[in-house]
Amino acid sequence: MSRTVDKLWNGREVAARFRTMVRERADAFRRRYGRRPGLAAVVVGDDPASLLYVAGKARACQEAGLYSEVHHLPATAAEEDVIALVRALCGESRVDGVLVQWPVPAGIDYERVVSAMDPARDVDGFHPVNTGVLWRGRPALVPCTPLGILALLRAYGVSPAGRRVTIVGRSPIVGRPLAGLMLLHDATVTVCHSRTTDLAAATREADILVVAAGRPGLIGPEHVRPGAVVIDVGITRVDGRPVGDVRTHEVAAVAAAVTPVPGGVGPMTVAMLLANTVEAAFAREEGRVPRSQVWLEAGDAVAGRWGA
Ligand code: GUN
Repeated sequence: MSRTVDKLWNGREVAARFRTMVRERADAFRRRYGRRPGLAAVVVGDDPASLLYVAGKARACQEAGLYSEVHHLPATAAEEDVIALVRALCGESRVDGVLVQWPVPAGIDYERVVSAMDPARDVDGFHPVNTGVLWRGRPALVPCTPLGILALLRAYGVSPAGRRVTIVGRSPIVGRPLAGLMLLHDATVTVCHSRTTDLAAATREADILVVAAGRPGLIGPEHVRPGAVVIDVGITRVDGRPVGDVRTHEVAAVAAAVTPVPGGVGPMTVAMLLANTVEAAFAREEGRVPRSQVWLEAGDAVAGRWGA
């Protein structure tokens, strides 16, 4: 059996390749339209993790040649103020993509805020129209973490088609949209959650196991079919360090591959946010609906670059 470290997938490296592609596309956009693709991020309140994530997204935009602006509203902001800002940003000519960092303070209904977005600028893919078209099998803008998971699997030459995929977690950000995306890519999908009675029975069925429960160390080798691919989306701070939902090295002893935390899915999420923003920019200028899927196809075209 190979050493367990050899089974860890390198999300940082794959994400860096995607960011290079994004940069090339952003440069082409600028040459064609005389401006950069633009992202506006809104953060409400002072949650330190959210502020860090949003700063990281803005920095990633800068490095990839995108325009970005960050709007920081106080925790006391009214829901109507947040909605008014989102509507205004969706009408700005420099802004092709808008996101509101989740979570928002109690008293603000995130679903109402997201629903106020222009679906064509909803680079998080959270608007009900984008949710609906994904589940109808005609995806437009797809949420960044599910898209990043698909891109990572494809980069390592793993196709979900015909595979049994078990997803642990039913959040609107990861579990639910990933189920729709996996179905679109011809997987047989099971979604488990906190009320699932026999979790291990469902996870042991999986050829591809994706864990997005937010419960550190939830998944051990007893949950994993030998030879499965295990994708760890969990990221919880424990004593100041990020910890995943999967006991990485124990699981790597039985799995074919495991994504580490940090350095697995996380960097892919940011790369896909940039990718969605560039796609939204081209679509807006070309008068068509944006399609996140173009980035999966673009990734396939250069898969050899990372030896998949
Ligand atoms: N909080 C955690 N993940 C995400 C994400 O993908 N988008 C937004 N807007 N907030 C998040």
